[in-house]
Amino acid sequence: MRAVDLIRKKRDSGEHSREEIDFLVSGYTRGEIPDYQMAAWLMAVWLRGMSGSETASLTEAMLYSGEVLDLSDLPGKKVDKHSTGGIGDKTSLILAPIVAAGGLTVPMISGRGLGHTGGTLDKLESIPGFNVNLSLAQFRHVLKECGMGLIGPTKEIAPADKKLYALRDATSTVENIGLICGSIMSKKLAEGIDALVLDVKTGSGAFMKREEDAVNLAEVMIETGKRVGKKVISLITDMDQPLGRAAGHANEIAECIEVLNGGGPADVRELSLELSAWMFYLGERTKNVEEGRSLAETMIATGQAKEKFKQGIRLQGGDPRVVDEPGRLSQPRSHVQVLSAAAGYVCATNCEHFGIALATLGGGREKKEDAIDHGVGLQFHKRIGDRVEQGEPLATIGYNADARLAEAKTMIAESFDIGLEMPRKQPLIRRILQA
Ligand code: URA
Repeated sequence: MRAVDLIRKKRDSGEHSREEIDFLVSGYTRGEIPDYQMAAWLMAVWLRGMSGSETASLTEAMLYSGEVLDLSDLPGKKVDKHSTGGIGDKTSLILAPIVAAGGLTVPMISGRGLGHTGGTLDKLESIPGFNVNLSLAQFRHVLKECGMGLIGPTKEIAPADKKLYALRDATSTVENIGLICGSIMSKKLAEGIDALVLDVKTGSGAFMKREEDAVNLAEVMIETGKRVGKKVISLITDMDQPLGRAAGHANEIAECIEVLNGGGPADVRELSLELSAWMFYLGERTKNVEEGRSLAETMIATGQAKEKFKQGIRLQGGDPRVVDEPGRLSQPRSHVQVLSAAAGYVCATNCEHFGIALATLGGGREKKEDAIDHGVGLQFHKRIGDRVEQGEPLATIGYNADARLAEAKTMIAESFDIGLEMPRKQPLIRRILQA
């Protein structure tokens, strides 16, 4: 078999066999197929799509590119949550400590920023010293000690996703149902979990802009989980505007700490509690989702979730003092406000452009090898449906370099759609899909 023939086959809308997909995934993971050929294949997939059986083959080839963890020696059920990504989407860092404090194990393999969206691993690295690159033995130790661990794909676990994820990010080949399913489900199934809660985003800041595409993606992932005997459910949630007030890295960690302290923006708190509630229920820690929700609330109210977060940070080499003193997180050198050019109501946002503006300021990658500036960030002051006066601040940009500040500022200002009519608000949780 030759990669060039498989690229041509997909370019011409052909359907790959399982052996062909195995050849591409294993060849790329081992370094035998170069980036340029894999990039061409990814673009052909993006343009032509994949069938259900191709998606299943891709997911399995990616899953078995490395080890599947066996955590059966750890007590209790192992549960996780994964989001398809968005702007200000920070719930993992809140619900992992909530659910671990509530008695389940959360072995979380996360991703870095992808396309215009932020990544959990990059956010965690804004905590001084935090190490997301644990060996398997270290990961097990952390899970045993505190019930939660957050790492990235490694050479041992989901190595195909480690390479493909970075390549998709740099080649604009992210928004494809088969590729997203392969990426998410291969990492998650490799974790040795019993159950998984998916948060599939829809709206202008999501990869799936249309709700029907989000539902389709969720159904494909639920089906994939079911085939391998895992309990999987999915929430379809709103990403027509950023989640919470903060988007960036260090400032998102600060917002998570606010929620763990019992405060924080209502939408971040609501979604974190709902996702935690489902994790407790699927992990058989509670009889139903309502009980799961009240357990999650208790974990925050008693401070147990916050203490768990500190313990998790310490065990992964980070400085736990940031939890009581968020000022220790990196701060931008300067701030500038983005003012509204008109009076009216915020009717919509082009949420994807907030993520692109953030990347322009150094808070995202344009090439695989780019470093992230963890201090830069956006703080939003207005949400859809809010009244705004001319000259009132819509957002504040925290930045370190002015080279592309003007470009970012214009992009953010233009991403708020201000109109005269108060818009109808969308619910945060649009649907819940179960197998
Ligand atoms: N999150 C992932 O881990 N992979 C994707 O492809 C998209 C979101």
